[in-house]
Order: sequence, then structure tokens, then C-alpha cells
Amino acid sequence: MPNTGIKHMSKYSVLVVGMGKRGMHHATAFNANPRFQVTGICDIDAKRLSEAASKLGNPQTGTDAAALAKATRPDVFCFCTLPHLRTPFIQAAIEGGSRLIAFEKPVALTSAELFTIRDLLKQSGVKAVVSHQHRYGPHYQKVKEIIQSGALGRVHTVYGTATGWMTHMLSHLLDYTCWFNQYTPAQWVMGQAAGGVKFADNHPSPDYITGFVQFANGVRGIYECGAGAPDQPEVGKWWGKNRMGAQGTEGFAEVLTNGGWRAVTKSGGYQSVDGAMNYDRDMPPYIQEMADWLDNKQVHQCNFEHACLGAEIMLGMQRSAAQGGQIALPLTTGADEQALLKARVAGQSVLVSCEQNRAEFGLTGA
Ligand SMILES: NC(=O)c1ccc[n+]([C@@H]2O[C@H](COP(=O)([O-])OP(=O)(O)OC[C@H]3O[C@@H](n4cnc5c(N)ncnc54)[C@H](O)[C@@H]3O)[C@@H](O)[C@H]2O)c1
Repeated sequence: MPNTGIKHMSKYSVLVVGMGKRGMHHATAFNANPRFQVTGICDIDAKRLSEAASKLGNPQTGTDAAALAKATRPDVFCFCTLPHLRTPFIQAAIEGGSRLIAFEKPVALTSAELFTIRDLLKQSGVKAVVSHQHRYGPHYQKVKEIIQSGALGRVHTVYGTATGWMTHMLSHLLDYTCWFNQYTPAQWVMGQAAGGVKFADNHPSPDYITGFVQFANGVRGIYECGAGAPDQPEVGKWWGKNRMGAQGTEGFAEVLTNGGWRAVTKSGGYQSVDGAMNYDRDMPPYIQEMADWLDNKQVHQCNFEHACLGAEIMLGMQRSAAQGGQIALPLTTGADEQALLKARVAGQSVLVSCEQNRAEFGLTGA
């Protein structure tokens, strides 16, 4: 059914592009919030599009996001496509007159694209948020609260590990640990990478990447992502084996995506509570903060500027892994880190940390 694009009273209109797993999460959560109405949806897969339309109150549909944005003039342009598509949708959103762009991690595959996106957003003044929504889980919130309370003494280290590969997981590890460190910018990063199998994936990545980060407040960041990263045997779900935390002079606190949180502090001893990431619980507050930002009440926690701090570290780590040495941050020139790193690890085999990783990286029998 054609939608005229007329806004419902105080509702912000939304166009969602990409009707896969995350597009449906977003569209459903927008419609469940009284401040938003999905007025348009887009996918290049016609079957997927019509199935989604019937679940979302039959908004206007189309296979061309830019044309649909021009036709529906949405307040919010949300895209949940795969990581290689960024700049054309940012341009389409701006040309469609949107006030806020919501898109999926990772921010960009290359620093060249990161700079392009940043320039487009700066010139247009359009707000943008990136979906690092795990943070709304109570186990993530609890770890942030413990760190923030001072119970760890002087925090000297933040860290994150995930067995899932870089383009899926490193953005999450970096964003939440930057949040733990109050989004203090990084000064430099040094990295290593191995294994080229996952460069053929739709989330192209080295099979294993590691890095050390110097934050401006003296805190050290330590990251490992992919086949060589340690197993977390207490977590069953492979994609939930992500461990992010902080260590201080008087204790540590850490969250496991699908394994709750645990902490040891000087005054509180050992504490731990079970818990797991849950999209249905994490999406509503993520969406509500978009309304609050559009209302100019409060800047969204997952704002583009915050996401860029992690993105620069992620790209700097790749550049270091490809070229050697330390990489100063913020980056000053754009590069194609995907090409640099792909060439560096081509033909290399990764050494895994556990048997399950061997299977997940397609190395069974190798
Ligand atoms: N934040 C999180 O917790 C989280 C979790 C999973 C995935 N993600 C990210 O979300 C993004 C999407 O992942 P997904 O699992 O939903 O993928 P998906 O493959 O399920 O969905 C992507 C959809 O985009 C459509 N598409 C592709 N090109 C298009 C185009 N030009 N115009 C319109 N539609 C197009 C595809 O047909 C598909 O339906 C990825 O960047 C992924 O990294 C984030």
C-alpha cells in the first residue's frame, strides 16, 4: 500500500533497509515504540520484502533504498545490510532528508570509507548511531557500574576477547571496553594477524587478530578476536564466548556475552551472576534513545563519534598487522585496510586455540 509519508502526530517515520535478521529486529522494535512508525522497508530480495511487509503493518516497499528515501522522506533512515555497503546508504539518507541514520556495526571496513562517512555526516549535520546494543544487557550494565563506582581502584587495563571473527565481533569488543574507559581516545595501537580463510566471508576478516592499545589516560587495551582467541568453556554458545572487562589495582570486573558477569573487588569479594545477551531486551532502550536524541533531550550513547573511537582502533590494529610497527591515532590518512591485510595473510594457516574454533573456521581435517 502506498504510504504518503505523512507523519503520525508525534511519531518519527522510519525507513528500514535490509530485511534480514537485524533489519527485522530494528523494524519490529521501532514499531513497538510509540514514538516511531516504520513507513518504508527495502530489500533486494522480493520474497523477503513481502514477508516482512505483512509483519510490519504493510509499509511502503521498494528494492531501491535511495528512491524509497526520496519518496517517503523518513525522519530515520536505518540500514542493516552487510558491511561492504555504507557510503551509498549514508548519501541516500542525507538526500532523503533524514534527521538520524541508524546503522549496523562495523562502522566501516576501511579508514578511507570511515573518513568519507564522517565527512558526509559532518557536512550534513545528520545524527548517526551505530548498533552496539549489547550494552543494555543487565550483565553489561553491572560491569560498567562496578568500574564506574571506583570499586576496582585505579583501572589500568581493559580487555576483550572473542572467538568469532573480526568483522563480526571486534567492533563490539572495542566499543564496550571504550565505554568502560569512558570513551577516552586512544593514542596508538599495535597489532598482529594470521590466517586468510575468513577473507572469503561476507564479514571479511583475518582468521585471528590481536592488538595492544594505549589510551590517553594511560589505560592499556588488550584485544584478541578469532580462531586463536581463548575458548571460554563456561559459555556454551560459540558466538557468546566474548569476554570484556577491566582490571584495576583493587580487582577486576568482566562480562561474558552469554555467560553473565563476575567480579572480584577489595570490598565486595567474589561476585558473579548468570546472564545472556538478548536482542528482545536490548533493542527497546537502543531505539528509545534515538527518540530522546531526535527530541534533543539526550545524545544517544551509541552515537557515531563514540563508535568511531573503536573503529579507528580496529582499523589501526589492521594497519599495524599489515605493515608492522605502532600506528598513531587518530588516523590522519585513509587507507584500504582490507586489501592491505588480505595480502598480508593470504595463504597463511591460522593456529587455533580449541577444537571448536577449528570447525568454525572451516579447518576440520586440515
Ligand atoms: N548488533 C548486533 O548485535 C548484530 C548482530 C548480528 C549482525 N549484525 C550486523 O548487522 C548487519 C546485517 O546482518 P544480518 O545478520 O541482519 O544480515 P542478513 O544477511 O540476515 O540481512 C541482510 C539483508 O540485506 C539485504 N540487502 C543486501 N543488499 C541490499 C541492498 N543493496 N538494498 C537493500 N537490501 C539489501 C539482503 O537481501 C538481506 O535480506 C551486518 O553488518 C552484521 O554485522 C549486528
